[in-house]
Amino acid sequence: MERPTVTDPIVILEREGPVGLIGLNNPPVNAASHALRVGLRDALHAFLEDREVRVIAVYGVGRSFVAGADIREFQTGRKPPLLSDLITEIEGMEKPVVAVCHGNALGGGLELALGCHARVALPGLKVGFPEVDLGLLPGAGGTQRTPRLVGLKAALDLIPTGKRITGEEAVAIGLFDTASTADPRTAALGAAHAVIEGALPARRTRELDADIDPALIETAKAKAAKKGHFTAPQRAIEAVAAAALPIDQGLAEEVRLFKECMEDPQRAALVQAFFAERAVAKIPEKDAAPRKVDHIAVIGGGTMGSGISTAALMAGLKVTLMEVSAEALARGKGTIEKNLGGAMKRGKLSDAAHAAALTALNTTTDLSALAEADLVIEAVFEDMEVKKDIFRRLDAVMKPGAVLATNTSYLDVDAIAAETNRPGDVLGLHFFSPAHIMRLLEVVVAQETLPEVTATGFALAKRLGKVGVRAGVCDGFIGNRILAHYRKVADYLVLDGAAPQEIDRALEDFGFAMGPFAVADLAGLDIGMMTRKRLAPTRDLRERYSPIPDRICERGWFGRKTGQGYYLYGDREGPNPAVATIIDEERAKAGITPREITDGEIVDRYMTAMIAEGARVLEDGIALRPVDIDAAFLFGYGFPRFRGGPMFYADTIGAAELVRRIEAYAEEDDFFWRVPPLLARMAADGTTFADLNERG
Ligand code: 3HC
Repeated sequence: MERPTVTDPIVILEREGPVGLIGLNNPPVNAASHALRVGLRDALHAFLEDREVRVIAVYGVGRSFVAGADIREFQTGRKPPLLSDLITEIEGMEKPVVAVCHGNALGGGLELALGCHARVALPGLKVGFPEVDLGLLPGAGGTQRTPRLVGLKAALDLIPTGKRITGEEAVAIGLFDTASTADPRTAALGAAHAVIEGALPARRTRELDADIDPALIETAKAKAAKKGHFTAPQRAIEAVAAAALPIDQGLAEEVRLFKECMEDPQRAALVQAFFAERAVAKIPEKDAAPRKVDHIAVIGGGTMGSGISTAALMAGLKVTLMEVSAEALARGKGTIEKNLGGAMKRGKLSDAAHAAALTALNTTTDLSALAEADLVIEAVFEDMEVKKDIFRRLDAVMKPGAVLATNTSYLDVDAIAAETNRPGDVLGLHFFSPAHIMRLLEVVVAQETLPEVTATGFALAKRLGKVGVRAGVCDGFIGNRILAHYRKVADYLVLDGAAPQEIDRALEDFGFAMGPFAVADLAGLDIGMMTRKRLAPTRDLRERYSPIPDRICERGWFGRKTGQGYYLYGDREGPNPAVATIIDEERAKAGITPREITDGEIVDRYMTAMIAEGARVLEDGIALRPVDIDAAFLFGYGFPRFRGGPMFYADTIGAAELVRRIEAYAEEDDFFWRVPPLLARMAADGTTFADLNERG
């Protein structure tokens, strides 16, 4: 057979003597789409019929072997041949089929390899079952073949966790048979010859037995339950347990549980979260060429500045940290070193990368020493005059073409940019604390920001491993503006009758890692107090105001750091009884008779306020699309991933019901509860936020 003549066919067939080579070619990640499955099946059949072919080898063309099923088909519907059937067919084939894997062999891609009769790992290979992260379980035999190959313990370490391991580790545990350093096609040819010569044994995984210890299954279930509300890991473990059955029964059980996952609302939400992470990069400025950034300067060595410096150093950038005094610099440097040490301990940084990061850090107390940096991030405290002064000085010293960024959480980036003679080079880069861990980066685009400067912000986000979300200028941008609104609901609910701990529990049951009062205690109640003071002059007197947080702060109780806030810390854990007294007093003063408030009402009011402000943020053009709000909340605010983000969740309720709720709440408070015009239009024409995402 000759080399392929068709340009870029999805499956490339070649015969080299007794070897049938199948190259899978479905860029960018070789997802096992319908077309790829059909192509692979037809290619296999062609080689089965070709009498000359003794062994078939399958490999990936381009960056990867197969990164899994085509996730988009879960939304549009899957057509036969299903991957599970195709893999079972491959396993039963008379001629040996070898899988030679490079790049990623994930999910259905790994399952395809497990259905082949031998597996070869190439350098840099990553394998794993990320299905649980999408609300699924390996549904093409992975739960049955993995324990047969590597034993129950190793299977449970992989399948319910979504953990990815290297090719070397996969060989070490017996998931792969051997490794090669050749390029994929050459390795495929070599592996096929090795099978012919008997050097690489070919066998059917289905012929192996699995030893399923029920005690290990129970332990795995308990461990997965600790991770919260996710349903897929539990089902995945159940499917692995079915490997105790004869394989065809086990496979049928896997299919049954896979279908349950497909119908579970968590699946759609988690798939949305996967795409949200990628959709946010599709910005109007995406075709602008980002400027080169190798050296960044950070002004301010506090929690934010040192977190940002840590993130940049971990990404291999050169960092110059500036502070006002040698003492402040030493503190900042100490925090960075501690952060880097922690990252090394957590396995996020190798010893060599850790050492390199330490040498890539320079410090200075002289602003003019920052002049040569490609990008400077100001991370000093939130005072407009201080920031304006810094930007005037930066304008005077920074080299032409440098990007000037502020890490402000709410201040007017246009006003800051206006202090310089190069407003086009200015933007907001709003990191979230701890900045070397939290993945959200709001890229705040001011009126004059040049497209290439915005593109530079996004390129930096990617380099730092963060999710850049484009935001417009307003008080709080996307996230903090929405938060400021819905957070008030929690205070109103306390005034009306719910205890802070009841509200926290209801929202934690909904899926938030921590309720709003526990978060407030952790962040420090003084932070909320400062925000209230800042906004006091502009507060509309018609707005309902809860004095309870101020009363707690008056006592000097700022939460965890002072040993008490809404809760007691140290050896007196639990709700703070003195806060309950303050609440009673304030209700009495306001003439409120506390009423019974259910968990359902707490969640409904809190979420409705979040969605309503999200709709206004969209209408004001602060967020480009609903998916940008979803990503901001998923990656910066601990929003439960299995609910897909606030705007995705809104669609599960429907605009009409949301409008009805807001109108009902407005009967008691028509200042806070107002129907956003966008939501009213959506309710009238029956559209969804997903429709808005599609329109872009
Ligand atoms: N299906 C469809 N599209 C996919 C995909 C998949 N499995 N994996 C990635 N893509 C798309 C992305 O959406 C993105 O599209 P875009 O350019 O339009 O935004 C493009 O491919 C490139 O992806 P990334 O930007 O993520 O590229 P990276 O190089 O950074 O990462 C990757 C590559 C590690 C493969 C990463 O994309 C990934 O983890 N993908 C998901 C893998 C996965 O979850 N597989 C399991 C699927 S479920 C399954 O197999 C069920 C089975 O058991 C039956």
